[in-house]
Amino acid sequence: MTKIIDGKKISEEIKKKLKGEVLALSKKGIVPGLAVILVGNNNASQVYVKNKERVSKEIGINSQIVRMSAKTSQKELEKIILQLNANEKIHGILVQMPLPDNIDTKKISSMVNPKKDVDCFHPENIGRMMIGDASFLPCTPAGILELFKKTKIEIEGKDVVIIGRSNIVGKPLAIMLINLGATVTVCNSRTKNLQKLSSQADILISATGCAKIISANMVKQDAVIIDIGISRNAKGVLVGDVDYANVYNKASHITPVPGGVGPMTIAMLMKNVILATKNQI
Ligand code: GUN
Repeated sequence: MTKIIDGKKISEEIKKKLKGEVLALSKKGIVPGLAVILVGNNNASQVYVKNKERVSKEIGINSQIVRMSAKTSQKELEKIILQLNANEKIHGILVQMPLPDNIDTKKISSMVNPKKDVDCFHPENIGRMMIGDASFLPCTPAGILELFKKTKIEIEGKDVVIIGRSNIVGKPLAIMLINLGATVTVCNSRTKNLQKLSSQADILISATGCAKIISANMVKQDAVIIDIGISRNAKGVLVGDVDYANVYNKASHITPVPGGVGPMTIAMLMKNVILATKNQI
């Protein structure tokens, strides 16, 4: 029987626990503070940022959205980051990606105080994660590891194929799975014979944003399927990378879209904000 991995339910359990941690901190007079910087009007980013604000409120984290125009200069953005780095009430800083083309994204990520880098985008934190000495783990990969833990899916010795090599998801996830003893193959849009590789995976993880790119013939019988893709179909409905109806029967475990990885990303962000707060007090 295929098991649906219910990220929504698992994230609710995590959020409940985090709410308790925030309550304990508030009894000591400490309220975790998160600043989210949103530059420009990207539609998807606006939705993500609103969701982060909603969940922060739910848990008791003080979140502040810094909205900046699409015409913001590099200097203006850097100034805001320096102010937030120095603000003792702000324990976590997140710069929503993507940034407009005129902004040097790498420089911005490296200007956030590593202790407040709840996204784990700072080179120091990425380096620490690489050698298995992380204080923060990047939110989406951490959410996926949590799903494996909660559903008792073993990682050690497994053949994992990741489709997507982004700095936010594919690359850090590959590192984290290598650290857990998996054999990891990272594919991209230029990969030769993707089907040959994907159909050998014990765990297949797709992060492309191309609807239904993962068909049943790309999947090994009883594989674990993790779908990180989000796109909208012709009817405007949110869909993942996986041809869910056809892959479902072949998979041992599968994440739905929505309600799979998405809610876990925000739960892990909240976890990082609380961790950052504890590290700073
Ligand atoms: N844009 C898409 N995903 C993310 C994320 O996890 N963090 C940030 N800062 N921006 C994103």
